[in-house]
Amino acid sequence: MEKESKWMEGPNEQESEQEWLDVTIRKIRQKMDWVSEKSRNKIPYTTVNGEHDDKSDGGVYNADDGLNWWCNGFWGGMLWLMYHETGEEKYREIARISEEKLDWCFMDYSGLHHDVGFMWMPTAVADYRLTGNPDSFRRGMHAANLLAGRFNANGNFIRAWNDQPDGGNDTRGWAIIDCMINLSLLYWAGEESQDPRFTRIAMAHADTAMKYFVRPDGSVRHIVEFDPWSGQVVRDYGGQGYGQGSSWTRGQSWGIYGFAISYRHTGIREYLDTAKRIAHYFIANIPEDGLIPVDFCQPEKPCWQDDTAAAIAASGLLEIARLVKEEEQEMYRKAAVKLLQALTREHCCFDRSNDCFLQKCSGSYHAPEHEFPIIYGDYYFIEAMLKLKGNDIFMW
Ligand code: GLY
Repeated sequence: MEKESKWMEGPNEQESEQEWLDVTIRKIRQKMDWVSEKSRNKIPYTTVNGEHDDKSDGGVYNADDGLNWWCNGFWGGMLWLMYHETGEEKYREIARISEEKLDWCFMDYSGLHHDVGFMWMPTAVADYRLTGNPDSFRRGMHAANLLAGRFNANGNFIRAWNDQPDGGNDTRGWAIIDCMINLSLLYWAGEESQDPRFTRIAMAHADTAMKYFVRPDGSVRHIVEFDPWSGQVVRDYGGQGYGQGSSWTRGQSWGIYGFAISYRHTGIREYLDTAKRIAHYFIANIPEDGLIPVDFCQPEKPCWQDDTAAAIAASGLLEIARLVKEEEQEMYRKAAVKLLQALTREHCCFDRSNDCFLQKCSGSYHAPEHEFPIIYGDYYFIEAMLKLKGNDIFMW
């Protein structure tokens, strides 16, 4: 690592790590027990006046921001994690409510995007892996075919979004770092069907991302635009971060986790090395208090934070710790614990005053709102805590 944060030297917290882990898992189980019942018919994204909202509420009349919303798989994912952790049937039942609601999205082809991985891996594919449900298998394979269909062979990238040239915005050539997680759907489909097309497309996109998104210092870009006909790079954008050339922290987290996933599915060493490079950049920039800003390059004020970046990075770092040699594991594990302990100490709600756990998440630096609960922050927080306990399911 080029630069090490001071906190790497010292102990993580006063109370013993095991004590903290046991108490936190107990609190997660207690909260999920009542909130799962309370929100059983919802697909939550955030909270309004402390209560989960419902992205399935508008149905067909609210397509872009409703059932097709890219975050609609995370609630199901939280429920499957709890099903695995507790063995309680109620989690399976409630998880299937949102999985079935998402079927409508297959009918609205134009509203779907590359985030079909985020939508169907933690719902249908998790269901199939845990229960063998044949309907879930079909959903997963449909979603994988949609994702594969977004591949542009001219530049070897998966197109992120659907804006058309005549709509004022042209995203035909846009790829984004977040897609590294969506690739898991293609790896899964390739493994299930033994059809190498899926795996080849995933690897081609990962190779492109390695070449054009990852900078020499290990930081990553959010958006890269390619000419959709020639495949040549046109330019890059700051996207949801502070600006061009900056380091949007959630994008760094997607990079860490996404390249680790690509290594796990393919065994290609370069992917693991890339995940480690991004991780080293991230670890070197973790502030002393362990709380993560929206962008590592944002101005000192306003100092907005993003708990989602912390939770995703923690889970990605724990994934890397499983993939590297024993003598390397401790650094990644220790950084993950630092991030998770900061979240539980400062930003986590375990009581009934808010239906979400993490309270200071930010969608993007230039959005009007910052530091509010977001469902994927909660998903990755629970996933990472269960990884530390050694009782997660590999979702990606
Ligand atoms: N995948 C979009 C985001 O991270 O906000």
